[in-house]
Amino acid sequence: MSYPHHIAAIDIGSKKIAALIAQVSPNADLTQPVRIIGAAKTESRGIKKALIINIDEAVSSILKTVEAAERMAGFSLKSVLINISGSHINSLNSKGVVAVTQPDVEITEGDVVRVIDAARAVSLPTNQQILHVWPRFFTIDSQEGIKDPVGMSGVRLEVDTHIITAASTTIKNLTKSINDVGLDVDQIVFSGLASSLAVVSPTEKELGVVMADIGADVTDITVYTEGALSYSTVIPIGGHHVTKDLAAGLRINLEEAEKLKIFLSQQYASTWSKEKRIKLDQDIDVSSLNIPNLKKISYKSVVNGIIHPRLEELFTLIYERVKEAGFANEVSGGLVTTGGGSLTIELDRLGKRITGWSIKPAHPTNITGLIDDVKQPEFSTAAGLIHFALTNQIVQTPSEPLLSFNRIMPLNLNLNKTSKKIIDLLKSLLP
Ligand SMILES: Nc1ncnc2c1ncn2[C@@H]1O[C@H](COP(=O)(O)OP(=O)(O)OP(=O)(O)O)[C@@H](O)[C@H]1O
Ligand SMILES: [Mg+2]
Repeated sequence: MSYPHHIAAIDIGSKKIAALIAQVSPNADLTQPVRIIGAAKTESRGIKKALIINIDEAVSSILKTVEAAERMAGFSLKSVLINISGSHINSLNSKGVVAVTQPDVEITEGDVVRVIDAARAVSLPTNQQILHVWPRFFTIDSQEGIKDPVGMSGVRLEVDTHIITAASTTIKNLTKSINDVGLDVDQIVFSGLASSLAVVSPTEKELGVVMADIGADVTDITVYTEGALSYSTVIPIGGHHVTKDLAAGLRINLEEAEKLKIFLSQQYASTWSKEKRIKLDQDIDVSSLNIPNLKKISYKSVVNGIIHPRLEELFTLIYERVKEAGFANEVSGGLVTTGGGSLTIELDRLGKRITGWSIKPAHPTNITGLIDDVKQPEFSTAAGLIHFALTNQIVQTPSEPLLSFNRIMPLNLNLNKTSKKIIDLLKSLLP
């Protein structure tokens, strides 16, 4: 029996771990939707602010998610693409210049590789390493704005690149956690870049657009101008801050606050409209949530008084970062929001008011399969990792059948060194 060519991706988030397995043909048509044959989402443990703070807990929740996705797909994975985020992510734009090898013939792939390599020569703070060198456009002699120089002729080849860097220690910890699950890492991709590949259209990129993946603890930002990736950053605020504010403001616990936030968001705003919105002076009956001592709340004090200030802070920071980077007036495509936090009540209205940009809530669209859940905004990063793999031709060969002993670690056990050794020993005994 043979198993399909596939791509597997894991989004290691502060709130959830999401895994997707896509079936692909070796010469996949990138314009066609990708078929998802395995998907899973579990609550993440050991991750805060998008960083691993407890590797054993993180490994155990990644494992649980991977196993659930493998069960659905019916085969075992060998390697995966994963995301990276956190305040350590930085970006800069850098130029590279080379002399074309055979100026009288044509520019080759080799020249392109050399010029992109030349752009890598930037000085970085200690502990930062380059994650992506993304060509923005090429210049041949003095002709700017060339997307693909291969086959053209010229003497001097220049490239403008967007470089995304990350902390080496974070890269090491993420790689270790994946290896501990028994998987290799195909590629680590900045979450914001991944999400943008899933939710931003070519037209939006041309017009200029800001993409914000609003997660639980962080918001990943990518900016495209004139079709090119121009800026990446991470803001350490997400939906969980809103939950914490509600818990503190109403003196309820975090689970209750989360329940209340989701209830309000679902009841009163998928898209905000005057008709839908409750009158400001009206109380909302929340008795169905069974939160002790909280039967009614005032919309004005809870939504305007507690939720708005946090959203204002987030959008102010998004606007300021994009402005500091010099792109605030180059994004007529507006702001595309995704990630679970993008569902927060009145987020689109507040976003427009603070930034002045049009707000477009988005979720991954170019995927198909049996599972509707993966079309939720919280799956944008995972779906984007699959698109990253497709555009960079990272495809897994047909895999092994699903062995019940393949990933042997007990789910609820925090792995220590001894248990890992036992697992390795057992694995070595497997056929
Ligand atoms: N229907 C909803 N309404 C409001 N908020 C929601 C809704 N569904 C999810 N959220 C919020 O989205 C956040 C989780 O989003 P997501 O799964 O994208 O985060 P993550 O990727 O795990 O975290 P991060 O990207 O910060 O590491 C949580 O704060 C959660 O409360
Ligand atoms: Mg996320």
